[in-house]
Amino acid sequence: MPVKGTPNHAPASKKYFDLTWIDLSRNAVRFDCRDAQNVGTDGAHMAEVVNPQVGAILDRSCQDCHSNHTNWPWYSHIAPVSWIVSKHVSEGREMLDFSEWTNQPGAESERMLICDAVSSGSMPLASYTMIHRKARLSKVDVKLICDWAAAASQPGK
Ligand code: HEC
Repeated sequence: MPVKGTPNHAPASKKYFDLTWIDLSRNAVRFDCRDAQNVGTDGAHMAEVVNPQVGAILDRSCQDCHSNHTNWPWYSHIAPVSWIVSKHVSEGREMLDFSEWTNQPGAESERMLICDAVSSGSMPLASYTMIHRKARLSKVDVKLICDWAAAASQPGK
């Protein structure tokens, strides 16, 4: 295309640079959106499946590793953290996947396992609560979870 005025290569290459930059950042945004939505997965939040009080605790402290609602923090994309995080999530989901509770809110034995894990302090993983302080469970949280687990045989709980 003919350009009027004196030919000047500097603006052209700058423009190219800008476009590349925009393209890169656009891709970054696209990745972020995809991660945020966890495309290709569904499953309710625990607060919708089990009683809201216990559900909210499980959502807050467990779902990053035990459901499809994994909320990947930015640093989880950077190796070696990314390897550690994805290992925790795949192992965690293998043991217990809350996303599969949509139709069947957890067997009684599974609930007792959860109560055991939180009262012994083995869950949530200490390496996780070190960073995610909000995921720490109080004594009241643990009691609520275990009361709920014990009530598993009662309908509507
Ligand atoms: C940082 C990831 C992570 C978080 C957060 C987490 N878990 Fe886990 N969980 C795992 C992994 C990995 C395993 C399997 C290996 C193991 O036991 O260490 C597991 C295993 C379990 C098991 C199987 C029995 C056991 O003790 O190994 C239960 C039950 C469990 N988790 C419950 C919970 C509950 C309830 C929460 C929230 C209060 C929670 N987890 C939070 C990663 C996590």
